[in-house]
Amino acid sequence: MAEAKTTTTTRWWRGAAIYQVYVRSFADGNGDGVGDLQGLLRKLPYIAELGIDAIWLNPWYPSPMADGGYDVADYRAIEPLFGSLVEAEKLIDEAHALGIRIIIDIVPNHCSDQHPWFLQAIAEGPGSPARELFWFRPGKGEDGSEPPNDWQSRFGGPAWTRSTNPDGTAGDWYLHLYSPEQPDFNWTNQKVHDEFDDILRFWLDRGVDGFRIDVADGLVKEDGLPDLNGETPEPLPFSDQDGVHEIYRHWRRVADEYPGERVFVGEMWLPDPVRFARYLRADELHSAFNFDFLGCPWEASALRGVIDDTLAAHAPVGAPPTWVLSNHDVTRHVTRYGRADTSFDFGDRQHLAPTDFDLGTRRARAAAMLTTSLPGGVYVYQGEELGLWEVEDLDDDLREDPVWVRSGHTDRGRDGCRIPIPWGGTEAPFGFGDGTAWLPQPAEWSGFTAEVEAADPDSMLSFYRTALGLRRSEEALGDGDLTWLDLGPGVLAFTRSPGFACVVNLSSTPIPLPEHESVLLTSNPLVDGDLPSDTAAWLRLG
Ligand code: GLC
Repeated sequence: MAEAKTTTTTRWWRGAAIYQVYVRSFADGNGDGVGDLQGLLRKLPYIAELGIDAIWLNPWYPSPMADGGYDVADYRAIEPLFGSLVEAEKLIDEAHALGIRIIIDIVPNHCSDQHPWFLQAIAEGPGSPARELFWFRPGKGEDGSEPPNDWQSRFGGPAWTRSTNPDGTAGDWYLHLYSPEQPDFNWTNQKVHDEFDDILRFWLDRGVDGFRIDVADGLVKEDGLPDLNGETPEPLPFSDQDGVHEIYRHWRRVADEYPGERVFVGEMWLPDPVRFARYLRADELHSAFNFDFLGCPWEASALRGVIDDTLAAHAPVGAPPTWVLSNHDVTRHVTRYGRADTSFDFGDRQHLAPTDFDLGTRRARAAAMLTTSLPGGVYVYQGEELGLWEVEDLDDDLREDPVWVRSGHTDRGRDGCRIPIPWGGTEAPFGFGDGTAWLPQPAEWSGFTAEVEAADPDSMLSFYRTALGLRRSEEALGDGDLTWLDLGPGVLAFTRSPGFACVVNLSSTPIPLPEHESVLLTSNPLVDGDLPSDTAAWLRLG
């Protein structure tokens, strides 16, 4: 394995390749059909072999799983289905021994309705201090039967649910930007701040290397919780409020007390790249997911625009950009890139739109070379290295994502990108575990198991291993900058110093390669020395 530049030097996070593990669907170590820490422990060598610097784990806390673990009932423990605190500590140690850092998810915008604070708030009723930790408000109308304002949940329906008083009568409403099982914390209350300081320290003390901050833009709400009245102000009254930055400045001071550069990665979907970059000022978060790139169609000029805007927004704050193709919330990119409309939008997942998987796969390979050679960090979502696609033909009654119900059965949600990973064998659950997997895998995945792909030099897995290995050994890759080359319309091409070029042909005809010393890697074979459509090349320049 090539030496890891980014794990052996400081500022490791500026150019890190980070592998996202959705624990529930990664590997099942105890045969109950649900992925767990034992399973992940066994697969650490697989992740190490991929050439990864850090793992980001989706929430591993005790949770009723109303939203796949983003409804946290206890921030200082491990979900029993996933394992124990002892196993979590073992995972951190074993990962570190392999040179892999561990980033965990922190969910500060909301908790579970089964969190002790919320249970207490409900039990103690209106006027109790416990209620001040959330957003309880009387309803509108004579009998209070209408929500306090017109905000909508991001999963559909009103962002308010009416509570029941201890005496059984209908009570105040509480705010939830997501499902009703996820009440929003009230960050105007100092107790919430103190609690999260303590939670951060709890995990930092146990050796985690960083936190992915869920809904990082959402914590602070505008004073008075004003109605939207059909408008879309920027910022929205429940997103990207200025006060949120003081929270992250404080968190940064906490993390900086610890050795080894512990980091924060923000999750915020914001329309304005300049406001986005404010989270990445030197005394706030280290990095954030670049969703503009993820949502962008597979077109050279559009991608070039997003890349330029991203670099331009990050440069003034000195933060490294990140590049993301897929995650646990979006349609897998093999599927997206095989469609007529290759963009992604939560408003329309294009469920079951005609898809050319060969084309999608071909583009996914080129996209992997593009993202892994752009300046900054890169994320790999479990299964993308196997070329897995979105499973769209799942039985509707198996769907667990609250989006499906909350949208009034109009949005089929995110289960299709959360299907358990096929590890080996010829039949489901393909080595995921001994029991029936919690979501069924397609029979065709027998040809896409890690076992089959590891033995095939042309597979997506072999390709990812080579690309990520080169990313580590090539001095030019990771953190830094780029210089564009103009190779005509439909072509993205840039150089990185020293002596490296990436060329991606998104046009419909083959193109000649620019002058080079040698070809390091191509995502598909060259044809008569030319770079075919939807193909990328990495070149060594003289
Ligand atoms: C983030 C997570 C998503 C979750 C939501 C609410 O967007 O990525 O999976 O449903 O926050 O916590």
